[in-house]
This record gives sequence, C-alpha cells and structure tokens, in this order.
Amino acid sequence: MKLKKIVLTGAAGRLGGYLRAPLAAKCTELVSTDIAPLTEPLIEGERFIQADLADYAKMAELIEGAEMVVHFGGHPDEKPFDDILHANIIGCYNVWQAAHKAGVRRIVYASSIHAVGLHPKTQAIHAETPHRPDSFYGLAKCFAEDMAKLYWDKKGLEAVCLRILSCAHVTNLRALGSWLSYDDLIHLVERSVDTPVTGFTVIYGVSNNDRAPVDNSAATYLGYCPRDNAEIFADQIFADAPMPNPRDPDQMMHGGPFATTDLGESGVAKLGLSPDDT
Ligand SMILES: NC(=O)c1ccc[n+]([C@@H]2O[C@H](COP(=O)([O-])OP(=O)(O)OC[C@H]3O[C@@H](n4cnc5c(N)ncnc54)[C@H](O)[C@@H]3O)[C@@H](O)[C@H]2O)c1
Repeated sequence: MKLKKIVLTGAAGRLGGYLRAPLAAKCTELVSTDIAPLTEPLIEGERFIQADLADYAKMAELIEGAEMVVHFGGHPDEKPFDDILHANIIGCYNVWQAAHKAGVRRIVYASSIHAVGLHPKTQAIHAETPHRPDSFYGLAKCFAEDMAKLYWDKKGLEAVCLRILSCAHVTNLRALGSWLSYDDLIHLVERSVDTPVTGFTVIYGVSNNDRAPVDNSAATYLGYCPRDNAEIFADQIFADAPMPNPRDPDQMMHGGPFATTDLGESGVAKLGLSPDDT
C-alpha cells in the first residue's frame, strides 16, 4: 500500500537525486526540499519546496501530514563548526521536532561512518559500537543519532540511521571496502521505508563488498541484501593506486582521510572522487 506523503530533504543533492523517483513511487505525494533549487524536472506526484533546514517554521509547514521523512539534507563533508551547527545540528533538530509534532511515523536518516570514524579497521564495527567521531561533521551525526534514539525512547518516533560508508564511484583502495553503490543505496532506503516496524535502528550503508569492514547482523530484519561488490574493481585499483604508507592512520581508521584532516577542513577533498560524484 502506498504511503500518503513522504518528505525528502536534500532532494537537490547527489544522493537525494537518486532517491526521488523510487520514493515518489512509494507515496501519493512526495514533498522534496532543499536549500538549493532543483535543476531536474519534477516527477509525477512530486512537489518541490526550497527551504533552509535551519528554518523551523518552514520545516514544520512542509512536514505537516507526512508519514515519513527521508532526511538527506545537510553538509556531506567536514566544515567549520558554525556551518555544521546550522545545517547539520539545528537542521536535524528541526526535522525531528517538526516530525514529532506532525505525528510522523519514521525518519530515515543519512548518518555516516564518520560517527565512528576513529575506530581502527582492525575492530569490526557494528550497531552498538560507541560513537568516536573523526570531525565536527561526524560529531553532528552522533548528535543526530542520539537525538533519534531520544525521540524514539520518549516520543515513539521511529528512526533508521543509515551509517553510509562511501556512496560514490570506486576510485581508491579504501572504497574496495567502503563502497555503497547507488542501486544498493536505493534498496537500503526502500527497505528502511517498507519494513513495518523498525523502532530505533542503526545499519551501515555498504554494498556486498568482500572487504566491507562492518557487521550489519543486528539489522537483518530490515531485509537489506546488497547485490554489488567492489571486488570487481580491485585489479584496476591495485594497478593504479600507489602503495600506501602502512603507518598512515588514514589507511587504518574507518573514517579514512577524515582521520587526519584537521577540524573544519574538508575530508572529502582527500578522497579523490570521480568528477561524476562531485
Ligand atoms: N555521499 C556519501 O558518500 C555520503 C556518505 C555518508 C553520509 N552521507 C550523507 O548523505 C547525505 C547526502 O549526501 P550527498 O553526498 O548527496 O551530499 P550533497 O551535498 O550532494 O546533498 C546534500 C544536500 O543538502 C542540501 N543542504 C545543505 N545545507 C542545507 C540547509 N541548510 N538546508 C537545506 N538543505 C541543505 C544541499 O543543498 C545539498 O543539495 C548527507 O547528509 C551526507 O552527510 C553521504
């Protein structure tokens, strides 16, 4: 059965762009929102409202009547604290508080590996791994996950926190483990919306990679069965990538280059993303 209304934040962004059509197919009305204008045409059943996540009144207005919010808006990289505070902390609070007031059933949230980025890769991480952020960006993801837990515990607002590792083309050694393909991202979000009851759930957003460094066994009831495997890129990556320095913490921390990036400075800039992902 279709949902009545879903709100998608970050709809003008890279990942949001992949989610608009699959989400529109799941509801009668998809309300897409972003601070940036939408450059692609609207999909049938979709309405776009340009808004700042930090504007509570606007968030409350557009979330009214929604059954679910898929929250992908905000900065996807390390930034000076004030920027993170505005979009990623105040913005998240506004989404949760407005959703609670509107009687929303569930929020599906784009969290990140950077909430636990300073754990070494020699420790497999799972849903209960303690927060250990590698940046202000990761710290804001910790805040949002804890807030999600609080609103579940106190208000019964469900949340599925997707700790996405790296949803971009495979261009480096780390991505052989951390890759989340766009198809698997869509499948993960669809399962997070479709599963009848989720309570508060944390799941890592990663494809079926041989080298995936995480344990998703606590969230099997979501039925997330990723199909893609970054191993198909391994020969090419090993042929192209320079031999890494084994003492470089970027190589051995879950957060990759965010591990040594200074607070407030971009970690994504060190990832060497494909132009298709920037
Ligand atoms: N891409 C990845 O590999 C990855 C990994 C982990 C987590 N995530 C999370 O997924 C989400 C989407 O990431 P993305 O790669 O699509 O990034 P993106 O920058 O392409 O999309 C984010 C969108 O949020 C919007 N936004 C920023 N500040 C806003 C504000 N104040 N009000 C309203 N909208 C605002 C931007 O305009 C942008 O369109 C982010 O929350 C990011 O932290 C992404």
